[in-house]
Amino acid sequence: MEKIKEKNEKMKKFMAKFEGMPERVAKYIEVLLLGKDASPTSWIDKSSFREIAINPTTKCNLACLWCHRRETEVQNQNILGKDMDFERFKKFAPELKGFKKAHLGGLGEFLTYPKIIEVIELCRKYVPELVLTTNSTLLTKDMTHKLAKAGVTYLETSIDSFEKGGQEKYRGFGIAELDKILPNLQYFSDNTSIPIQVNSVVSALNVDSLYPAIDVLKDIKNLVVMHTIKLFMTQFMVKQGIKRATSEQYKNLLLHWKERIKVLGLKNLKIYPDVDEVELDPVITMKQKHNICFSPFEAPFIRYDGYFVPCGIMSHVGLDNAFDLGFEKAWNGPKFTQFRKNILAAKYPQWCKDECDLRSSCELAKPTIHEKN
Ligand SMILES: C[S@@+](CC[C@H](N)C(=O)[O-])C[C@H]1O[C@@H](n2cnc3c(N)ncnc32)[C@H](O)[C@@H]1O
Ligand code: SF4
Ligand code: SF4
Repeated sequence: MEKIKEKNEKMKKFMAKFEGMPERVAKYIEVLLLGKDASPTSWIDKSSFREIAINPTTKCNLACLWCHRRETEVQNQNILGKDMDFERFKKFAPELKGFKKAHLGGLGEFLTYPKIIEVIELCRKYVPELVLTTNSTLLTKDMTHKLAKAGVTYLETSIDSFEKGGQEKYRGFGIAELDKILPNLQYFSDNTSIPIQVNSVVSALNVDSLYPAIDVLKDIKNLVVMHTIKLFMTQFMVKQGIKRATSEQYKNLLLHWKERIKVLGLKNLKIYPDVDEVELDPVITMKQKHNICFSPFEAPFIRYDGYFVPCGIMSHVGLDNAFDLGFEKAWNGPKFTQFRKNILAAKYPQWCKDECDLRSSCELAKPTIHEKN
């Protein structure tokens, strides 16, 4: 009986992830039921998307070991070091109306973008929530006030080590060191009411240096989520011999954080994903159980040059252009539709096999970078 109750609770939690998004539910069921015979187009009702991601720049002031910027395929596409043309974005911006949330993301540091405040203001004119991801190196006092006034509603910041010298080691530059970025975060927290999430990539290399996180961050009162990201393996990392943390290492880290949160009485702080939460996640579970990636159906991501990319980790693959064609035509444009058709038929690019462990139906497909090592 207890087991049945537990299962029901799990499904309730799962269904809550679709709340208020009827088109997302319909497409999800269609893809699950029909598999390769599902339609390769996706819905256009904006309120059924969780968010739309926009990439203002691919310029960056750090050189993180695990970033996709280091990948040869990304570098060969000549997409790095580019700013979004603000005038083109301005023309496109009214099309954001109807989305719940805009998320500034992608392969760059967005506080280097000269018109970042204008981009945020424009997004907020049409969209109620705005998430900004930043490495916090440029989060000065002045910037804090400008971001708050422009309408940021949630700040994500990435920290990959909580030990002296660790950030420089893993992220390439001393400007990312804790003694530089922590005062920025403290000021942001003390002078705004914007919730903060810390993203930490977990690899075998840095897992030990993440242990002090909770103690180091305990006074950042706006901190609400500690988000651990299991490393997406890149070819560069394979060459450097950098590996994913083992399940044991990962679990021990989360258990330690949980204990410190309890001891320090940080009631508002959550760990995501939680250590004992074997969650059913719409995207991850569909990948693992059915070998279908739902991301290109449900997560619109517009690169600095207006091109839709299949997902946040395939920034080097430009499909149809939203700035030229508009949201609806580009989202279901010929290249995007073909991409989805291929994944429904399990013809995944090698990148998907390497990064997301998706199987390919083609027997001639190369082994993944994990299998090779
Ligand atoms: C690409 S960055 C862009 C925003 C900003 N420059 C920053 O570092 O926060 C977005 C997020 O991706 C994470 N990330 C970078 N490389 C990764 C990898 N190989 N696997 C998983 N997450 C990664 C970063 O830690 C960061 O939280
Ligand atoms: S993870 Fe962010 S800060 Fe690091 S190199 Fe990539 S874009 Fe730059
Ligand atoms: S890399 Fe491929 S499998 Fe992974 S999220 Fe992107 S499209 Fe999906």
